[in-house]
Amino acid sequence: MKQKLKFPEGFLWGASTSSYQVEGGIHNNDWAVSDRVPKAGVACDTYNRFREDFAIAKYLHHNAHRMSLEWARIEPERGRFDEDALYHYHGMLSWLRDNGLRTFVTLHHFTSPLWFARDGGWASPRATEHFERYTAKVVQSLGHLVDFWVTINEPNVYSLCAYVIGIFPPFEKNIPKSFRVYRAMLRAHNRAYEVIHNYDRDAHVGFAQNFSWRRAERRFNFLDRIFASFMNWTEYHLPFRITKNDFIGVNHYHDSHIRFSFSQAKHFVVMTRHGGQMTDRGWAMHGHALYQVLVKLKSLGKPIYITENGLADQADKYRANFIHDYLGHMHNAIRDGADVRGYLHWSLLDNFEWEDGYKWKFGLVAVDFKTLKRTIRESAFAYSHICQDNALPPLNLPLNKGEKERK
Ligand code: BGC
Repeated sequence: MKQKLKFPEGFLWGASTSSYQVEGGIHNNDWAVSDRVPKAGVACDTYNRFREDFAIAKYLHHNAHRMSLEWARIEPERGRFDEDALYHYHGMLSWLRDNGLRTFVTLHHFTSPLWFARDGGWASPRATEHFERYTAKVVQSLGHLVDFWVTINEPNVYSLCAYVIGIFPPFEKNIPKSFRVYRAMLRAHNRAYEVIHNYDRDAHVGFAQNFSWRRAERRFNFLDRIFASFMNWTEYHLPFRITKNDFIGVNHYHDSHIRFSFSQAKHFVVMTRHGGQMTDRGWAMHGHALYQVLVKLKSLGKPIYITENGLADQADKYRANFIHDYLGHMHNAIRDGADVRGYLHWSLLDNFEWEDGYKWKFGLVAVDFKTLKRTIRESAFAYSHICQDNALPPLNLPLNKGEKERK
C-alpha cells in the first residue's frame, strides 16, 4: 500500500470504556458482591479522574468516546434514583461534548444492580419493565448529552457467559435459560428504543453485538458445520429480525473455529482460535475477519459503528500494526459497500477484564494500578495520527512519532 487511504468525511474516531471496568468505587452491583469473581475495586478511578482521561482522548485527536453508565449507581434501590450520580454523569458527558467529542452511551455493560440481580436479573419476568424505568430516567436526565445510545452491550456474550459457561454472575449452566435471557435482553432493547425515540425522534439507538465470524474447524465435518452456522445465525440474523435499530454496534475481536465434541457434555462445542499471531489473551489477529463481519452485515442496511475492537498487548508490541491492519480491512469493507461510520478502539485505558481481573492490558493508555499513573503507549500515537488525518498512512511511513510519555 503506497497511498494514504482516506475515510469518509465526518468519520468518528475514538475509544471505548465501560463503567465497572474503569470507574472504581462500585460496590452494589452483581460483580462487586460476588466472591466467585475478582472485584474491580478502585479500577482506574475514572469516576474521579475522568477529566484527566478524557483530556488524553482529546489530546490523541479522538472525536468520539464510548462510555457506559453504572445502573447500580443511578438506581441503587428499585425505583429510587440517585440524583448525585446522574449529576456526576451529566458532568462527564458535558465534558466530552464541550470538548468536541461525540458521545456513545451504553446503558448496560454486563453489570446489574444488586436488587435487580436478586429479583432474578435478566431471567426475571420484570426485567424489561425495570430496564425501561431506568432508561426513561436516564433519557430524561441525560438525553440531551447523548449522541448514540448503545442500550445493551453484547447480549450474546452476556447470555453465554452468565448462563451457559457460567463465568459471569449468576454463574448458571442452563442453555434454555440462556436463550430466554438473550431474548429478554433484546426485548428490553426494543422497549428502550421506544422510550428513547419518544423523547427524541431523531435519536440514534442500537446495541453492541459481539460478532466473530465462526467457521467449522473440520471443513467436512457435518456437526462442526451445523454448529458454526447455528451460532452465526444466533449472532447475525435472529437478533436483527426481532429488534429495531438505527445502527449496528459491532464489537469484534477474533474469528472462531467450531468443533463439535460429545465430551463437552454441557455445551457441545469447543471454540478454537488459531492461525497467525496471537494477542496476550490467545486471540488470533486476523484483520480479514473484521472485513468479513462488516461485509456480512451490509445486508442489514444500517449504518455500522465499530463499538469495540482491540487486543491485549502489555508490551505494546503488536498494537500499532494491529490497528493498521484492522483499519485497512475496515477501509476495504467500506470500499465494498459497508456503511461504516465510526471506529472506537477497545480500550482507552488498561482496565478490569472481568473474570481475569487485571491480567490483560487492552489500553491505548497504560495504567499503573498501584499509583494510578497513566502512560500513553506508543501505539496510541500511531492511532492518533490516523484519527487526526482521517486517513490510514501507507505502512512504510513511520507510525510512531509521538512523545513517549505525556507526563
Ligand atoms: C467486552 C469488554 C471486554 C472486552 C475484552 C468485550 O467482549 O465488551 O467489556 O473488556 O471484550 O475482553
